[in-house]
Formats: sequence, structure tokens, C-alpha cells
Amino acid sequence: MQRKRSKEAFERSISTFAGGVGSAARTFPEPLFIERGEGSHVIDIDGNDYIDYVIAYGPLILGHRPKVVVEAVSAQLTKGTMFGASCELEFLVSEKVAELVPCIDLVRFTCSGSEAIHFVLRLARAYTGRPKVIKFEGHFHGWYDNIFVSVKPSPPMGLPNAPWAMRQTPGQPENVVENLIVLPWNDLQAVERTLKSQGHEIAAIIMEPIMFSNGGIGPQEGYLADLRELTSAYGVVLIFDEIVTGFRLALGGAQEYFGVSPDLCVFGKGFAAGYPISGFGGRREIMELVATNRVPHMGTFNSNPLCLAAALATLKELSKDNGRIMRYISEMGARLRSSLDGLFQEHSFPMKAVGADPIFTLISPVLDLRDYRDFLRLEFDVIHRFHGEMLDEGVWLMRRGIMMLSAAHTEEDVQLTLEAAERVMTGW
Ligand SMILES: Cc1ncc(COP(=O)(O)O)c(C=O)c1O
Repeated sequence: MQRKRSKEAFERSISTFAGGVGSAARTFPEPLFIERGEGSHVIDIDGNDYIDYVIAYGPLILGHRPKVVVEAVSAQLTKGTMFGASCELEFLVSEKVAELVPCIDLVRFTCSGSEAIHFVLRLARAYTGRPKVIKFEGHFHGWYDNIFVSVKPSPPMGLPNAPWAMRQTPGQPENVVENLIVLPWNDLQAVERTLKSQGHEIAAIIMEPIMFSNGGIGPQEGYLADLRELTSAYGVVLIFDEIVTGFRLALGGAQEYFGVSPDLCVFGKGFAAGYPISGFGGRREIMELVATNRVPHMGTFNSNPLCLAAALATLKELSKDNGRIMRYISEMGARLRSSLDGLFQEHSFPMKAVGADPIFTLISPVLDLRDYRDFLRLEFDVIHRFHGEMLDEGVWLMRRGIMMLSAAHTEEDVQLTLEAAERVMTGW
């Protein structure tokens, strides 16, 4: 597949636009410049058409340019984009979020996931009067100083059951790790041990309910319920980072999917079908600190009407007919995932889809993954090569193997994807 104009655009871009990409997550060996999106497809500036399973790293749950959202945003544009005052959309969206997400009594809106995470960590510390937070090795909760720790550490990184808390980038102050405890994912004993010895100092435990940042590793049977029980016993705030899983695994996110309700959660991505808005919310007792300004939550762009209009249209669309669209996305994902697994087996190709139906990760070789240390045993060269060859076949998945479904993906897309995967395996 010819990507001459993308290459030229990249050469031009890097002279003024740092690195030629808007986010470190978008750095690829070969540049890809997109001209437009249409439903489940993107077209690059060379005119190549790809089935899009990246969906902007998650937000495009309704595909590109969904009619209902475009209309809602266009209507809002004619009324104004920001007022710096309350507007009805705020309570209309809040009511919908509270209706759909089990743990949420009260909610606030932010512009990005990182920002929402930053705030809930402060909120948990304020609520408990304790300084420390437990996070799990390999989990990503945004790029802010106080939590961008041990997301993708490489050895030496401590013992498997007692990982070091490792800063992710130069520039993070050394002391950011002082109030973080990093534990292995899916190791209940490690959490128990830590709470027993330091519970009185621990404000919160935060997690991706499925570790999609590294390998799509889900919680082991009963693990989330056990964490719920332990955190309640020790008065620790349980936080689900539902930036990826919210309004995706189920309408009520991972907490509905797994049937475990946290104290606080953050959500973003799928929430507004491609508009920059996220949010946090949870139990009234904790969120009262926000409501009463004891923990002030501020931001010029908070709950701006343009993004709220997009969110309201998205939530109405996702929840109509009792969540018909959510079921469709899951069904398409299940079909794609199981058919891919079938093909991998048929071709003795060392790859497997893990995670959930609406979002899964292709891993290689086939291993049982429990935590980040297991994830490091994967062969990333194989996954990256598979990604590159699928791209040349007109199928765009994330370089780290993640594929996300949207309401716009069709049976034809799934069929074409399977045919492309088969050609890649045959020519491997
Ligand atoms: C699990 C998780 N949490 C937090 C974030 C940060 O969100 P944002 O990029 O909107 O700041 C991301 C982003 O990919 C994420 O995947």
C-alpha cells in the first residue's frame, strides 16, 4: 500500500510540530495521516481506505461522524459554545450518567481522563485524610506527575510481588512515588498484606478493571469482589478507572459488567463519541466534598455545552431500545474475536484475542496472562509485524494489538477483516 503523501506530510510536519504526532501514543515507524473518517472507515491522505478498529483510541463508539451527534453539536453551535455559567445540559447529562452508572450519585465533568484521575485521587485523600494510593503495575491512569508511575517499567523493577514504584519520564519530581504503592495485578494477598500493615495510611486503590494498557488482562474470578470487600473493611476508597471500559463493556461500564460497584469512578472516551469530555463521580458522601467546595473542582472548559450536547446525544443513542446498540457492538466483537481465534488455530498462528467482546487485544504467543510481568513475556515483534501487515491489507488496529468495535462496524467489515487476517497468516 502506497503512503507517499503521508511520508511527505510527516517530513513537513516535524519541522514545526514536535515529533509529527499529537501524542506519544501515536508514534509509529511509518507515518499515517488521515484525511477523513466515514462510519467504521478512515481514508488517509493518499486515498487508502482502512477499516478502523482504533476508533481514535476509544472515543468513537458510534463510529465516525455519527448523525445524531453531528446534529446535536451543530444545533448547540448555533446557540453558543461556552457560557461560563450553568446550563440545562449539565443536569440532563448528569441525570443520564447517574441512571446508567451504578456507583454514581453525583458527577462532575472534565476535559480529559488524566485530569479526572488527578482530581479523584485528591478527593480520596481529602475524604479519608490519608496520603497514600495503591496502583497496580502496568495500569495507566493518565500522564499527570502523581500517577504516571510503573505503567511500562522495564527491569530492574523489583520483585514480582513487591514491584518498585518507578517514574515514567524525566521531569517527574522524585517524591511523586513517596505516596504511591505499586502492587502486582491479580495478587490479592499482596493487597491484603499492604492493607494490614499500612491500611491507616491508604486513601485509595485505583485500577483499570481490565488492564487494557498492557495486554488486556482481566481480573481473576472474584478478584474485584474481594477488593471491594477489603477496601470497605479498611475504609479505603475503591476507584475504577473506566476511561476505556465506561459506556463500552456495558452501559454501566466495568462495574455493571463485573457486578462490583466502586466508591468513585472516572469515565471518558466512549462517553461523548469523539468530543473532548470526561467525568468523575461516585457515592454521594464522597462527592459532597466537591458539591460543597470543600475540595474545589475548577476548570474553564468544564462541562462546556458543545461537548455536553455530544455526550447527551451519545448516551441517548447508546441506551435507546434497552441498549440495543451496546448489544450489537458486543455481538460484532464476539463474532470477530472468536473467528480470529478460530483462524489463528487453523493456521497454527501463535496469536490469541484476550479481553472482552467490545474491545480485545491480540497477544502473541498464546500465554495465560495474570499480571504485567506475564505481559512482558509476549513477543512484541510479532504483534507489531501483524499490525503492519494488516494495515497494508486495509485494516487498522492499534500497534499494541488492541481492536475496538463501534456501532458503525458492519458484518462486511468483519468478513473483510477475517479475509485480510487469513492473507497475512498465509504469507507470513
Ligand atoms: C485507562 C486510562 N486511563 C486514563 C487515560 C487518560 O485519559 P486521557 O488521554 O483522556 O487523558 C487513558 C488514556 O488512554 C486510559 O486508557
